[in-house]
Amino acid sequence: MKLTAEDKHNVKAIWDHVKGHEEAIGAEALYRMFCCMPTTRIYFPAKDLSERSSYLHSHGKKVVGALTNAVAHIDDIDTAFSKLSDKHAEELMVDPANFPKLAHNILVVLGIHLKPHFTYSVHRSVDKFLSTVAYVLASKYR
Ligand code: HEM
Repeated sequence: MKLTAEDKHNVKAIWDHVKGHEEAIGAEALYRMFCCMPTTRIYFPAKDLSERSSYLHSHGKKVVGALTNAVAHIDDIDTAFSKLSDKHAEELMVDPANFPKLAHNILVVLGIHLKPHFTYSVHRSVDKFLSTVAYVLASKYR
């Protein structure tokens, strides 16, 4: 999926409002995913996945931090996510069908919390960006 110049502009603009809130946004997106799509929990055995757990918050910060890095390298997400894709494919062995599930929940959280900035065109651009991230993350699977 090709991100247009307008998409890149929209994603960078909304990400200015994400920066500094990576942990809260990430934790809520993960919590919603674990709640609404409970099969995703199987990759986190023995972890405390409750709403206020320190694990959920620290992991959420890492996930959205990685997205902040992808936004900073929006012209070359493949390279920016190369190691992360390897890790999910080779080490964590996460079924790539799960990536769009987290992408969906991140989109929901941004829509709720950044509503004034979440115009139709920003919605479309962020959806395309997260779909690209999910696609790139799945690219090392063979
Ligand atoms: C670890 C990002 C989707 C399962 C990680 C890490 C990052 C990350 C940054 C930490 C890597 C490290 O410490 O070296 C992302 C992004 C995703 C995504 C950006 C999609 C938008 C998923 C999904 C699952 C998953 C959908 C499973 C349902 C895991 C697991 C770990 C991990 C099990 C290891 C957790 C731990 O060490 O405690 N991910 N991830 N990821 N991810 Fe993902």
